[in-house]
Amino acid sequence: MQLLYVSRPAEQLTHAEVQQIVSASRRQNWHSGLTGCLLFTGSAFAQVLEGPVATVQTLFERLRGDARHTDVRILWSEAAGARRFANWTMGYVVDVDLDSEVVSLLHASTGSDDAVRRLIRRMADDVFLGTS
Ligand SMILES: Cc1cc2nc3c(=O)[nH]c(=O)nc-3n(C[C@H](O)[C@H](O)[C@H](O)COP(=O)(O)O)c2cc1C
Repeated sequence: MQLLYVSRPAEQLTHAEVQQIVSASRRQNWHSGLTGCLLFTGSAFAQVLEGPVATVQTLFERLRGDARHTDVRILWSEAAGARRFANWTMGYVVDVDLDSEVVSLLHASTGSDDAVRRLIRRMADDVFLGTS
């Protein structure tokens, strides 16, 4: 299963704390067979989670209650399909250029498929090129 959600970091969250989330996530995801990518734009998160359906759903339920972010909103999910981030227990990219795009997705009443596809492609480009 693949899932993309967007959210806003809690106000007091620092870059160092985001780094800690990423390190802990990599350890846990390695054990549970999850892969994916976290994008931090400065004022928003977007995250792709990939793995067995039950594993992704269990993590997402835990994640959505995490006080370190808010306004958690699923934009896209797909039951099957190949992993895009198969080599990343959690790829991490910081890209401020994507801020307005992700913020608009946070507020849009529905995420357009085009916008979602474009965002995932940009995240993949960033993580494959190792821009962070
Ligand atoms: C933006 C964001 C992304 C996260 N991504 C993951 C992740 O990919 N994997 C993971 O295990 N936890 C992730 N977490 C942390 C979980 O919300 C949770 O704290 C963690 O799984 C530990 O849960 P536990 O203390 O109940 O075991 C993320 C948290 C935030 C705020």
